[in-house]
Amino acid sequence: MKRIPEPFRIKMVEPIKMTTEADREIALAEAGNNPFLLKSEDVYIDLLTDSGTGAMSANQWAALMVGDEAYAGSRSFVKLEKTVQTLFKYQHVIPVHQGRGAEQILFPNMVKHKGADNPVFISNYHFDTTAAHVELSGAKAINVLTPAALDTTAWHDFKGNFDLAALEKTIEQYGANNVVGIIVTITCNSAGGQPVSLANIRAVREIANKHGILVVIDSARFAENAYFIKQREKSCRDIAIGDIIRSMFDCADIFTMSAKKDPIVNMGGLCCFKDDSQIALYRDVQISCVPMEGFITYGGLNGRDMEALNVGLWECADEDYLEYRIGQVAYLGELLREAGIPIQYPTGGHAVFVDAGKMLPHIPSEQFPAHALANHLYLEGGIRGVEIGSLLLGRDPKTGLQKESPLELLRLTIPRRVYTNDHMKYIADCLIALKSQAHNIKGLDFEYEPPILRHFTAKLKEVNVR
Ligand code: F0G
Repeated sequence: MKRIPEPFRIKMVEPIKMTTEADREIALAEAGNNPFLLKSEDVYIDLLTDSGTGAMSANQWAALMVGDEAYAGSRSFVKLEKTVQTLFKYQHVIPVHQGRGAEQILFPNMVKHKGADNPVFISNYHFDTTAAHVELSGAKAINVLTPAALDTTAWHDFKGNFDLAALEKTIEQYGANNVVGIIVTITCNSAGGQPVSLANIRAVREIANKHGILVVIDSARFAENAYFIKQREKSCRDIAIGDIIRSMFDCADIFTMSAKKDPIVNMGGLCCFKDDSQIALYRDVQISCVPMEGFITYGGLNGRDMEALNVGLWECADEDYLEYRIGQVAYLGELLREAGIPIQYPTGGHAVFVDAGKMLPHIPSEQFPAHALANHLYLEGGIRGVEIGSLLLGRDPKTGLQKESPLELLRLTIPRRVYTNDHMKYIADCLIALKSQAHNIKGLDFEYEPPILRHFTAKLKEVNVR
């Protein structure tokens, strides 16, 4: 199995508390059988998210020292602006505190400018805060993901792609006048960190042009997407990562970015406009930025944060780093597959998604098999993963009935540059140990079910499988 060594050495370490199974039983019971409510102290390997959890490099830490904390016109902003102009060829840069900060200042303005009666956004798949901000702006969020993503066992190079026929059909159904924007999520988090091909992004652009619709890239994991394109899209094999990045972004008008992922900062984001073609919209978004995020040259960020982001944007597009990064996720995926544990295959950029529906077929979706697996993985090895399935999906607001997710997945999200390949082996060993006891794992029911965003604060109890 290919194991790509870490392209860095470790200069500083953070000790992790070791726990016993008895400690973990107490901690999980106190957390109401919900790993979200665990104290991070009680977690050995934290795979809840890759967001804001990466390890900054020596150069990023050094950059913090030269941050310019001026309220307006900060030197650190000017540097960041220049990097965005070079790396992405986008002219107008608005810093924001994180990805959802960009969403909250952009989407309501897009809706206002479109002036539609029945506004909708269409995406390969809206991330949950993205869908929430679309809905808060009074629009509807529609996903048109390729059906290839739903078959977790079959290899497909680009499981994050748009279903282009479904995109055309949806535009026709709602009328182009109502489609406020097409959001291209790279990589497609909800499908398993799966990439979108350059050909697919270009086809989306063509469709958008035909109908006069704006294209927005939701770019949290843009460098990982570019790496997959280089590996898998024949016409891009000999193209430098930087050029692939520019080709992807050339297909959009605007991008939002949660910089907490690929650019490896603990907090930060961007909202950028390609050129003057959307100047009126850009100005309105700038105006919204001031009361909601902060003045237009800091947007909720410290000057030093913008310095670290400036360095991180370059580092994450380095090919040796990306080979290791994508390789580490693939390595964990291969260890699991070899042991017969079903996963979303091939692995995506930032996480391994275990198909808990397949691994625990005796637990029905309304008893949350992936959440049950998350709990047992914590008990087994102190590892915290997160359910992406029916618990996250929630109830139908009209009928109050539990919705059934098409997939019941346990996301093992790998923070960047934080855990070693040995940690990956440990994670695999713990899951493999659980496989033989899988039939004993029980389903879950609510002890406390919050009315909204319930997965964050719900308390659950084990129940016998119905
Ligand atoms: N878009 C995508 C594709 C994301 O994955 C996220 C966050 C956001 C937007 C929002 O960015 O958190 O900086 O406000 N995803 C995290 C995750 C939380 O765990 O996948 P944010």
